[in-house]
Amino acid sequence: METLVVDHPLVAHKLTTLRDVRTDSPTFRRLADELVTLLAYEATRDVRVTDVTVDTPLAPASGVRLARPAPLVVPILRAGLGMLDGMTRLLPTAEVGFLGMIRDESTLQAQTYATRLPEDLSGRQCYVLDPMLATGGTLAAAIDFLFDRGARDVTAICLLAAPEGVAYLDEAFRGGDRPIRVVTAALDERLNENGYIVPGLGDAGDRLYG
Ligand code: PRP
Repeated sequence: METLVVDHPLVAHKLTTLRDVRTDSPTFRRLADELVTLLAYEATRDVRVTDVTVDTPLAPASGVRLARPAPLVVPILRAGLGMLDGMTRLLPTAEVGFLGMIRDESTLQAQTYATRLPEDLSGRQCYVLDPMLATGGTLAAAIDFLFDRGARDVTAICLLAAPEGVAYLDEAFRGGDRPIRVVTAALDERLNENGYIVPGLGDAGDRLYG
């Protein structure tokens, strides 16, 4: 598994304000949106393209267009919804699927309450959006859904990740047949006894949606 921590001063600046407990909900939403677009720029570095030629006013020019089938973007409800616009701004032709998942606060097990994905994802590149990679249970289950339907590769875009969650995904998707990447703005210190990322930014869903 490849883990990319995006090292850029604008990413660090926006993340710092997201972490700040004094940042209100409207500002949090706007910054999360902007941050995702910056992460998406790195996360889509391997998006498939096909060669094309276009005519400029002066001469033919070779270039590329996004390959078909279009990538699939999957926000994990609820907090991942706050990342969708920032992602589709860069990939407006992407198809969007939805997964509703919630982590039981006492067992930390992820439960799925909604699934709306294309039946056949053969050959598709998929991008999963979830602000927090904590224990990794939620993302692992979400990525399993995509590979079960034939996804070719999966990139998870997270605002924050904990080392425990990265290690869990690495173990769960070991071997080359189910390739995954994690792209994040920061790898934090650890999880606390309640399964929250420390120092983190609190509960992303609550800070986005109350
Ligand atoms: C949070 C977060 C992730 C998940 C991470 O969602 O947005 O989806 O927990 O935890 P894990 O890596 O330990 O599985 P939550 O369950 O709070 O739901 P919400 O998005 O509806 O707030």
